Amino acid sequence: MLLTVSKRLEFSASRRLFVKEWSEAENLAAFGPETSARYGTGRNYVAYFIFSGTVDPTTGMLMNISEIKERVDQVLRDGFDHKFLNEDNKTFTTIPPTTENIARQLFIDAAPLFSSTSAQLVACHLSESEERSATYFGTGTVESNYWLEFSAARQTTSPRLTAEENQKLFGVAASPFGHGHNYRARLTFGSDSDPSGLPLVRFADIQSCLESLRKELDHKNLNQEVLALIDQAITTENLARHIHERVREKLRIGRVRLHERSDFFAEHWDGEKYFLGMQIPFSAAHRLHAALSDEENLALYGKCNNPLGHGHRYLTEATISGPFDERSGALMDFAAFQTAIAEAVQPWEDKHLDLEIDEFRDKPSTGENIVQALWPRFDSRLDGRLVRLRLWETANNRFTLRKL
Ligand code: NI
Repeated sequence: MLLTVSKRLEFSASRRLFVKEWSEAENLAAFGPETSARYGTGRNYVAYFIFSGTVDPTTGMLMNISEIKERVDQVLRDGFDHKFLNEDNKTFTTIPPTTENIARQLFIDAAPLFSSTSAQLVACHLSESEERSATYFGTGTVESNYWLEFSAARQTTSPRLTAEENQKLFGVAASPFGHGHNYRARLTFGSDSDPSGLPLVRFADIQSCLESLRKELDHKNLNQEVLALIDQAITTENLARHIHERVREKLRIGRVRLHERSDFFAEHWDGEKYFLGMQIPFSAAHRLHAALSDEENLALYGKCNNPLGHGHRYLTEATISGPFDERSGALMDFAAFQTAIAEAVQPWEDKHLDLEIDEFRDKPSTGENIVQALWPRFDSRLDGRLVRLRLWETANNRFTLRKL
């Protein structure tokens, strides 16, 4: 299993997406109307620096997360934060500061700062708005994400199940009077490598693709008004597949994630793979303290070593895969999924992890150790179908365990 630690940092900058050698029409097709912003336009960026390595058995950490912040902050201050990227950062005098290129440059600048540490930088994810983000991986691959929002009505049912079976599997969502969601779909485009620094998907192409999806799905009754879905099970899994297939008619897309709520999503990947993800929070107190001297503990954990403790509202997210049932259109019973993850965290609710939970009698309750202790608690209740478990200690510190 692979463990990663992700540190979230913010910066603000201006930029112009523009290639000098191209005509105005070519720039417009590639970058959209913002290409005409002669002196740049701005974004509040959120960057995630993702590290992998082995957990030190004494400290319970991959590496000291405050060290990550210190080193990466310097990279942001020097070349990115409160800059006009095209002029202030020499990388962007030759290639446009697209989300992908900024993510790549952040990775290139930050990776050497961790070459002598136990953990290595493996990816840099950059979000520039609710609609647009990109990831650069240490392997040289790039992913571009575009988000689409739409609202729609539906009755969650499968025409291949009996009325009783639909009622049992989908509960209130099977009501014949329907219900609705504000959906958010993430379209992910990938490339093996990106030597040109030019966009994977042109603005004009993604816009026309999003426009046709909106036309088909937005403010529609999914059971009755979307021709391609007639006689299909109307589940989040099938909707994700439908969107994936629609986009694939025009563009090379790798996968689609569809949120029907901020804490619940389905994914459909190339190769007919399905995933479901659900979040559940729990609140607990803890204190970071290892089998070291008091001075060493204070130096290592800082304020997290406070003798009287402190606490968090932890957020967990479980993602499962496994066999997709074509008859019901479901990967797993939603209510059973919800019950399983609630039961997994319930015994830890409102407890002091180090003083009251067995798993932390002999090891510090770091994010790394918490996510590893939670894995079997989730997986055993999910029929061994867990493929990824995420834990946010705060919005800035995320710990992820995944099956390879
Ligand atoms: Ni803490």
